[in-house]
Amino acid sequence: METIIETKELTKIYNPQTTHKVVALKNISMSIQQGSFVSIMGKSGSGKTTLINILSTIDEPTSGHVYLLGQDTYLMSEKQKAEFRKEKIGFVFQDFNLMDFLDVKENIILGLRLNKINIKDKEKDIQEIVDELDIKDILDKYPFECSGGQKQRIAIA
Ligand SMILES: Nc1ncnc2c1ncn2[C@@H]1O[C@H](COP(=O)(O)OP(=O)(O)O)[C@@H](O)[C@H]1O
Ligand SMILES: [Mg+2]
Repeated sequence: METIIETKELTKIYNPQTTHKVVALKNISMSIQQGSFVSIMGKSGSGKTTLINILSTIDEPTSGHVYLLGQDTYLMSEKQKAEFRKEKIGFVFQDFNLMDFLDVKENIILGLRLNKINIKDKEKDIQEIVDELDIKDILDKYPFECSGGQKQRIAIA
């Protein structure tokens, strides 16, 4: 099986060389295989968000390396990282980050629009995904009309 995420000796120190110094991550080495589901658990303040932010290239480690699909993120420019996030990484945020002024279907296809993908070519894929996630009956609703679980599935879609 292919390794899709790998870290070597990741360390993150916030505010180094100050009295507010916080060692949030210390020498984290791990690898995640394609197709696996991984949960990161730990008490509040243990570094989960810091780790996710670094794995997703939103933040940078103080030392150590992250390899995404074999690429060393340290060697990627900000522009390359932005492209990588757009094309390869999906996020579902705790508060879902749906667009309140767009209906459910428009929220789902927003990512396609941003990538300038022809929606008509993707209609079949969209149908499959909304079927699988059981949200086809709420496609013309707005996020405020949906339950928490529905909003989560819309974000996944
Ligand atoms: N931007 C920041 N500046 C300084 N310290 C931070 C910052 N973000 C998080 N921390 C500290 O780093 C540690 C890990 O935080 P975090 O990754 O948010 O933990 P978790 O998500 O597991 O609750 C905590 O001690 C937190 O106070
Ligand atoms: Mg957190």
